[in-house]
Formats: sequence, structure tokens, C-alpha cells
Amino acid sequence: THQPTLALRGPLLSFSADPGVDVTPKDESVVYLEDGLLWIEQGHIKHVGEADALLAHLPADAELHHYPDKLIMPGFVDPHVHFSQLDIIASFGKQLLDWLNDYTFPEEARFADPAYADALADAFISEMLRYGTTTALAFCTSHPSSVDALFKAASARGCRMLGGKVMMDRNAPAALTDTPERAEHESRALIERWHGQGRLEYAITPRFAPTSSPEQMRVAGLLAKDYPELIVQTHLSENTKEIAWVSNLYPSARDYLDVYDRVGLLKDRAVFAHAIHIDDSVRQRLHSAGGRIAFCPTSNLFLGSGLFDFRAARESKVTLGIASDIGAGTSLSQLHTLAAAYQVCQLQGVSYTPWQGFYQVTHGNAVMLSLNDCIGQLKPGFEADIVVLDPRGSPALARKASRATTLFEMLFNLMMLGDDRAIHATYVQGRKMELAP
Ligand code: GUN
Ligand code: ZN
Repeated sequence: THQPTLALRGPLLSFSADPGVDVTPKDESVVYLEDGLLWIEQGHIKHVGEADALLAHLPADAELHHYPDKLIMPGFVDPHVHFSQLDIIASFGKQLLDWLNDYTFPEEARFADPAYADALADAFISEMLRYGTTTALAFCTSHPSSVDALFKAASARGCRMLGGKVMMDRNAPAALTDTPERAEHESRALIERWHGQGRLEYAITPRFAPTSSPEQMRVAGLLAKDYPELIVQTHLSENTKEIAWVSNLYPSARDYLDVYDRVGLLKDRAVFAHAIHIDDSVRQRLHSAGGRIAFCPTSNLFLGSGLFDFRAARESKVTLGIASDIGAGTSLSQLHTLAAAYQVCQLQGVSYTPWQGFYQVTHGNAVMLSLNDCIGQLKPGFEADIVVLDPRGSPALARKASRATTLFEMLFNLMMLGDDRAIHATYVQGRKMELAP
């Protein structure tokens, strides 16, 4: 169907490279136009430039959305989230292993009902868009129909979405466990059904070492070899009790990472959530294999898992992303995620800048998912997934905005004080989304 030309006019901000960690961003990493114009055709960005220069060339039937006192950015990317855990956010009083048993597994068991899964998937996509996130890499549950639910809900809005069925054959309730054979069969069927359909991508998803037998880990590795282009997503070294348990369950493995490495799951495009309790040699192994780390600050604080060493991760050059990790994370808002990242870094004497923060939730997370050729920047040829931020979107923001004289200050206010009220509009493939109140 033909979409008329859409033009978004206003302050445009995008990152064309990692700005580094200093208060002064690296040269040519920040692309900012105070009165810019984003020219969108058929869901893609066609031109980006000064409004003055481009306005005169717009076709007569173009639709113009003018946002003079807002901030137009690429839609946010969330590279680690469990869509099934939307409704167990803020479950009281436990750390990882008890939290999984007491809250998470009972909730995931409800996804045996496809109608329940459909409803939650739809709510998840709505919520994500309300927070300005347009793409996510999501865990589903062990039920294949939970993957169908996520992908149906995402494609109904045209979202670029990645996800996979959890592989889990032990140390979980019987209602949630599969077997190595079933996990392989179901994963292959889902790959054939969904991978590459429109903007959807399947991700091979062994939950984590404790819930997969060595046989099932081998199966996951086999899938990764058969489909080398697919993302693998799992968890690594989040909690000290978890780590001790893994060394009991896998006595012959050299360490936690080796459980994945020896079956071929430590590879390019493998996304490891958390990786808190690791040393430089593990960071180096991740880096040289092309593995990636998802830093999940609200989750790490909520579950008391530990403080992610952002500086050490940067120095190792491992590819890093930043994620909500709902439902251990406490908000789907990537603004809240950045506020927590700032605090986690503060506790370690590191100043996490808004340049680095807004880079991470856009281009940085796109790089982490190897999607940086199509999303994460305001650049010709890129898909028109856009968030329009309101730097005065709440009373607290409005008060601070009156004092913010630089872009740096405006961004820092947004990341420390912003919430859903700071998300003025979200566009997916050049279509303005209805944001539920
Ligand atoms: N480790 C294994 N499963 C999970 C999960 O669902 N959430 C978190 N935070 N860690 C995990
Ligand atoms: Zn997780």
C-alpha cells in the first residue's frame, strides 16, 4: 500500500559512531540538527537535512509533523527482555534463583494457554512502544505458541522483532520443561515458520546453564551450527549462587562461559545477559569470539545481583548493549534503564554520560544485534522507526528544562527524570503509533 511522504521537522539527534565515555563526545559521533527534517518514504528514511533546505522540495501531498520543542531520535532498541514477565515486575523480596521459582516459573506456566500468550504479547508491544522502544530481542517461554504470540503482535504493528522459544529441560516445573528432542524439533519448526518473515528474526534461546541438561546444551549448539546467522541468547554469571550451582551441575566445565563455549554457543551474535561476576580473561574470550554482553542495570539492582563493571567491559572491547530485562528489570523504559546505569556506574566511580547512554539505546544496541545497517540511526536508507521525546514532558522535566542550556544537559535530564510522559510519539516504519494512555 502506498504511504504518502511523511516529513518530521524539529531537532534531530542520532549517533553515527560510539561517542566514547568522556564528557566531550568523539568527533563526528553526534549528529545533531537543531531544525532538521526527516523525509520518510514507504517506511524508510529518504533524506535527512536542514529543514530550510529540504522543505521546498517536499511533494505537495506530503504530511508534515512539526515538533519544534521536542527531540527526534531513532526508536530505542532493547536487546534483552522477557515479554512473558511483563506482569511480574516488582515481585518482592527474592534474589535470582528464588525469584525464578517463586514468581517467574508460575507466571510462565500460564503461557500454555495461547489466548493468555496473545494478550500478553499484545500488551508487551503496546507498552514497549509507549516507552519509545521499537525493536527488542525477547525471550518467550518454552511454549512454541508464545513465539507465535510475540511475532503476531509485533508484525501487526510492523515492528522489527527478535525472539525465541526458551529451551529448558530440567530444574523447572514439569509444566515448563521440554526435552532435548522436543526443544530441537520445536525450535526448528519455529525457525522455518518465522525467521526472515518481514522484520522478524528467530533467536536460539537456551535459558541458562542450570535449566538445560548437557544433552540439551549440545542440541542448542547444533542448532547454532545449522543456522550460523541466527542470534543466540542466554544468561551468564548473574548471581553468585547461580554460578556455584553451575559449577556443580557442570563439573567438567572450566567455568560458566565454558558450558556454552564447548558446545559452540560462544560465537558471533551470541548475546549473554548480565555477565556481572566475570574476570578479564572471560571478557577476552567473549570479545574474541564475537559474543556480546547485555548490561541490565535495573534488573541487577532489583535482584541484588551485583554491580556490572562497565569500565572493564569497555576496556575489553567486548560488544556491549543495555537492556531492560523485564521482569527482573523494573521498567520497560530505556530512560529508566539509563538512570539505573548511571547509578550503577556512580557506585564504581565511573561517570556514565548521556552521550554514551543515548548512543547505547539506539545505534549501540543496533550494533550489538548486528542490525546497524537498518535501524538505530537517522540516516538515508534506514528504517523509519522513530521516537519523539518531550524534554518538558513532566513537571520535573519542565522545571529542569528551563535551566538546561546545552544538549548534554537536556539529555541528562531526560535520562535521569524521564518516564513515559517524556515519550511524545513513536513511529514504526513511518507510521505514528497509537500510544495507549
Ligand atoms: N536467568 C535465567 N532465567 C532468567 C530470567 O528469567 N531472568 C533473569 N534476570 N535471569 C535469568
Ligand atoms: Zn533475562
